[in-house]
Amino acid sequence: MPLLTRRNLLKASAVAGAYGAGIGIAGKFGLAEAAPEPQVLTALKTEAMLTAAGPTRDIMSWGQDGMPPTLRMTRGRPYAARLINKLDEPTTVHWHGLRIDNGMDGVPFMTQPYVYTGDSFDYAFTPPDAGTFWYHPHCNTLTQMGHGMTGVIVVEDPADPAFDAEVVLNLRDWRLGGDGQFIAPFRPRDAAKTGTYGTVRTANWHREPQYDAPAGGLVRLRIAVTDVTRIFSLKMEGADATVIAIDGNPVPKRFALDLLQIGPGQRLDLAVRMPDGEGAVATLEDIRGTTPKTIASLRAIGQSLKRNVGDLALLAENPVPRADLSAAEQIPLVLSATAENAAVESICGTLGYSFWAINKVPWPGDTPDPTAPLAELKLGKSYAFNLENTTPHAHPIHLHGMSFTVISSSTRAVMPLVSDTYLIQPDEKVQLAFVADNPGDWLLHCHIIEHQKTGMTSYLRVS
Ligand code: C2O
Ligand code: CU
Repeated sequence: MPLLTRRNLLKASAVAGAYGAGIGIAGKFGLAEAAPEPQVLTALKTEAMLTAAGPTRDIMSWGQDGMPPTLRMTRGRPYAARLINKLDEPTTVHWHGLRIDNGMDGVPFMTQPYVYTGDSFDYAFTPPDAGTFWYHPHCNTLTQMGHGMTGVIVVEDPADPAFDAEVVLNLRDWRLGGDGQFIAPFRPRDAAKTGTYGTVRTANWHREPQYDAPAGGLVRLRIAVTDVTRIFSLKMEGADATVIAIDGNPVPKRFALDLLQIGPGQRLDLAVRMPDGEGAVATLEDIRGTTPKTIASLRAIGQSLKRNVGDLALLAENPVPRADLSAAEQIPLVLSATAENAAVESICGTLGYSFWAINKVPWPGDTPDPTAPLAELKLGKSYAFNLENTTPHAHPIHLHGMSFTVISSSTRAVMPLVSDTYLIQPDEKVQLAFVADNPGDWLLHCHIIEHQKTGMTSYLRVS
């Protein structure tokens, strides 16, 4: 069993210090910067009240209190977390959208060993970008994320403009039966299409929660779509909402939220101008599908602050390097359906099917020896993905470790958005340019987890 040999080897080397666990938090920052106290993230099973049917068992989270904590970090300041695994299966933490060292990226076997039951792992890094990000395991993800392990990260910039309130929304569904207990996580025929939808929708683990905010005030609404499947078409009723950031990065030019599609893995930051009248309600809706669904709402309280969104200072740009387009090497990246390979046994749980491929290669599953990288990139050079979707479904394609800039699309006018996740539509071709400035092996996958786990995954090697 070569798999077990390799696994034991990796576990042993972790103890010896080849990976982050052995290095220790102090060592990562040098002498100049004091190491922060690690925030303890204890992965465990718990229960939560998600429906009127009573507590849902087999919830997975970090900590006892239900929804994973919203982690607060500051751009440019060291952060540390200690993952303690009290689940009965291995896990890791991936920091979605944070451009940090490869060894901290949380992908089992590719960037770190599994964190086994009873073991712990110290993460330490300095977030370079401010904005809304999120965290989740990168192992047996349909189960672990599906059962609750999706949390929001807020990276503050001390120079962020002042809002009158901030509301963070963690949007996700649950696959529960009428008794409030988990049902089968997916249906194969849906995995081969859009992915399998949850049966209970929540925002912050509540159904249609309402939050109070100052009348006439400006609210920073930080939305993270952490669901494993659902793409939202977001709309705000009852208040003006201005898009200020997408996927953690300020938009090049602010615009009024009319209707925006946001897929799994993506984030949206809105500046909401609350209505002036006390008691007036602004509602965030998902209008994808036949009937609009309320996601959450904001209720105006107090006397109007009479604020004006135009007075809001701009968000500072994140220091993401801009690709040199004239020198950028092109990397084809074609998404397709596949019927070829059957899935192989995976270290991180296989769904038992193979439906999707990148450049005709279906990811065989997370194994200690995966397929060859999609491309080998030279550190510091510019590249452009020519991403093409030949399937009849949308795919939120996510790159680890580096952020790209959207250059052009074959089907629509695009802004030069800086992002880590692009929601590509059927028959769309898009150019995404980036600088390969972060060494290591970086995953690239669809964030509809059933697609990721049935073939739509690959990786880049930067050295
Ligand atoms: Cu949100 Cu591979 O990650
Ligand atoms: Cu997909």
